[in-house]
Amino acid sequence: MAGSPGLSLRRIAAIVFAAGIAAAPAGAAEGGPTGSDAMIDDLIARMSLEEKVGQLTLVSSTLAVTGPEVTADLESAVAAGRVGAVFNAFGADYTRHLQRIAVEETRLGIPLLFAHDVLHGFRTVFPIPLGIAATFDPAAAGEAARVAAVEASAAGVHWTFAPMVDIARDPRWGRVAEGAGESPYLGALIAAAQVAGFQGRDLAAPDTVAATAKHFAGYGAAEAGRDYNTTDLSERVLRETYLPPFRAATETGVAAVMPGFNDLDGVPATANAWLIEDVLRGEWGFGGVVVSDYTAIPELKAHGIAADDRDAARLAFTAGTDIDMQGGLFLAELPRLVEAGRIPMASVDRAVRRVLKLKAALGLFDDPFRYSDPERERTQTLTAEHLDAARRIARQSLVLLENEGNVLPFESDMPAIAVIGPLAHDAASMLGPWAGAGDPAQASTLADGVRRAVAPGTRVLVEPAGEIERSSAQDIARAIAVAEKASAVVLALGERAGMSGEAASRADIGLPGDQLALARAVAATGRPVAVVLFSGRPLTLTALREAVPVLLQAWFPGTAAGDAIADVLFGRAEPTGRLPISFPRAVGQIPVHHDAKPTGRPASGSHYTSRYLDLPNDPLYPFGWGLSSYTDFEIGPPRPDRETLARGGRLGISVDVTNTGDRVGTETVQLYVRDLVGCVTRPVMELKGVRRVTLRSGETGTVRFDLTDRDLSFWRRDMTFGPEPGRFEVLVGPNAAETRSAFFELVGP
Ligand code: GLC
Repeated sequence: MAGSPGLSLRRIAAIVFAAGIAAAPAGAAEGGPTGSDAMIDDLIARMSLEEKVGQLTLVSSTLAVTGPEVTADLESAVAAGRVGAVFNAFGADYTRHLQRIAVEETRLGIPLLFAHDVLHGFRTVFPIPLGIAATFDPAAAGEAARVAAVEASAAGVHWTFAPMVDIARDPRWGRVAEGAGESPYLGALIAAAQVAGFQGRDLAAPDTVAATAKHFAGYGAAEAGRDYNTTDLSERVLRETYLPPFRAATETGVAAVMPGFNDLDGVPATANAWLIEDVLRGEWGFGGVVVSDYTAIPELKAHGIAADDRDAARLAFTAGTDIDMQGGLFLAELPRLVEAGRIPMASVDRAVRRVLKLKAALGLFDDPFRYSDPERERTQTLTAEHLDAARRIARQSLVLLENEGNVLPFESDMPAIAVIGPLAHDAASMLGPWAGAGDPAQASTLADGVRRAVAPGTRVLVEPAGEIERSSAQDIARAIAVAEKASAVVLALGERAGMSGEAASRADIGLPGDQLALARAVAATGRPVAVVLFSGRPLTLTALREAVPVLLQAWFPGTAAGDAIADVLFGRAEPTGRLPISFPRAVGQIPVHHDAKPTGRPASGSHYTSRYLDLPNDPLYPFGWGLSSYTDFEIGPPRPDRETLARGGRLGISVDVTNTGDRVGTETVQLYVRDLVGCVTRPVMELKGVRRVTLRSGETGTVRFDLTDRDLSFWRRDMTFGPEPGRFEVLVGPNAAETRSAFFELVGP
């Protein structure tokens, strides 16, 4: 299959440049000899088979637990050369200690790799990745990754298992929190920026880390939204929807790729040679490391495709998985498989070479201790600059869903304000489900933020009103009493951080516990009420919107949570976030997303069309939704420069934007495209451009988009990738539901 979908290299370069960094070609195709290649070949020639499989073995330290098994006696395993990399390991002193054992006590002194899940911050925690995607700003995503890399590398981390680039359309799946939402285009933009942010210009620089695109591929399509469940996708849907962010990550030079836990069309990704060898390495030329997910190799037995450990090790290794994370099966079984002639030594050498090249690219053979730097760890983490970035990006991630009656922004000098709800002071939840080495004690809660934001004379009344899962009648009575003493109320509602993320699927994605009753009771006091929603996924908010039509979606905003939210609540900053994923009216609508197919009977007033009897088809909040700051904008129709786009050419599209409100604000103009007739059915719209523009009251600006035939390309009937001549609709607007159109023709063979 020819073709290289996803973002053009031009667009990748633009993203990477916007992130202020040029990516390191860490995972670039296995190219010609470099200085380290001769050293690596010499080292491999001196290694025993046991030492080789030791380099293909990744084990967890006990500093953090991110899966079902834990490692016994890590230090002895390192000293015996049975470990090539350790994850959940960080801290300059601890990593220095383990590295010394590897370098001084093993026969060949090969340095260890230290890895950790640094998804959205290390000690300074940024919004969860779904919140970062809500900025619709790749530069923000790149900056957050850059800060995370500076802090993690100062603590001895060489390698992060991030970015998670799984596209997801099913918010029952808890890991939707870790990705960039439903759009392959936005997902690819964010993935490229995050890889560039983590890896910087040079992996050998002490403040960069190797990145990992995960979970390859289609893991977000888990059946029924239940984590680890089977995924069954046509090749066209896999390539069109789920692969583009991985393609963008590999084009940006990502150092590693991690297959998902899922079986794809019956073959678990960890043992899927078509995915790894044919697509990733063959079509895309990826030359980096493929690392299994946590015990995913022994789990091939549970999948029912491996009869025993040896079978599991053979299937995973021959499919292209280089490193066994926490499974211990490469260590136990590869030597026997090589001795029995079932796996060629050359294949083992090839996998070992990829691992050693990564260590060389990181500079570990020059100085194994360069990243374990107590001085840097002390001076380069939680700095004022990092905390400012975290607060700014957290503000950008907030999405104002409703503001009926312009209740927001609040005045900061009102006599008294109540902060009510079980998430008002839940510092741990502010960091989200993958908080790196973040410390809740460093996080500002919503109560903290409000206290710091109001005038000295304003009383702040805080009432948790029970727990996330339960508010008793007494709890609600207390909440009413507190609300009646206040001039306005901020309601802190939503999920605990552990209700999303890994192994955290929910069949009902409504507000947990009695929070709806609490909201209704507080609204009944007649006080102005604004709800701040904390969640790692879209929640079904239909009833809440009826009760309190002032909603600010906050996701989990990180270390600066409370201060960032307060900045927006009191009008010191504009809410500029947009939804990177549709919010369904009810779980029964799932999957609901902007790039749906038209069907042969599109929903209309007549009976025999594709619709529900009990709900509209459209989501409660569409992809791209978000009130535009505290002002209003008028977005004009798209104006193509010409009526035609020639193959290989470029078509400029202009869009006028006017700030019709009375405050400065930022609008996020989205451009969608529809292929009106194709050799296969095509989505009703696909995001193909985003432009953010800040305008003063009354000011008009013009944003420009450029379309090329790559933007119009798709996997055609014969599974080649490319465009087809014909008529296209271009749609622009503030979200996927409020657009204005123009048309153009793609001409040429
Ligand atoms: C987990 C996750 C994966 C993570 C790994 C190591 O099971 O699936 O995303 O990187 O284990 O913590």
